[in-house]
Amino acid sequence: MLISGAARGQGRLHAVTFAKEGADIIAFDICRQFDTVEYPMASADDLKETARQVEELDRRIVAREADVCDLAAVQEVVDEGVRALGRLDIVCANASIAGSRTPGCWLPPHA
Ligand SMILES: NC(=O)c1ccc[n+]([C@@H]2O[C@H](COP(=O)([O-])OP(=O)(O)OC[C@H]3O[C@@H](n4cnc5c(N)ncnc54)[C@H](O)[C@@H]3O)[C@@H](O)[C@H]2O)c1
Repeated sequence: MLISGAARGQGRLHAVTFAKEGADIIAFDICRQFDTVEYPMASADDLKETARQVEELDRRIVAREADVCDLAAVQEVVDEGVRALGRLDIVCANASIAGSRTPGCWLPPHA
């Protein structure tokens, strides 16, 4: 199962819930603050905690930092995950921000 925005919140819950049902997980999150978002965003430690909770259930996880808006980075995570885990059956498009002054998907300054 592939989950975007998996460092915390509902993304982590999806990872742990599916792991309990026997799924291995490919997880990614941007793990950094956007200056347009007015609440604390997830950290690299949060993503590590998601990985720890999945591994505690004796399931495998490939957890990487990547921006869902960066297709090449997402492709790299997916390719690595499928190589490590064997296949991909479910995609959960969970990553998002809320309450931003800039509506829609965040884009880096160079985009
Ligand atoms: N919490 C709620 O009440 C609620 C209600 C309805 C829908 N949702 C939806 O559920 C999803 C998760 O919500 P949540 O409450 O767990 O939010 P959250 O802020 O805890 O988690 C969202 C995660 O997405 C990550 N993220 C944001 N932009 C990203 C990007 N460009 N690339 C990669 N990762 C990125 C963040 O770092 C964060 O870890 C969102 O799509 C949200 O809209 C939440």
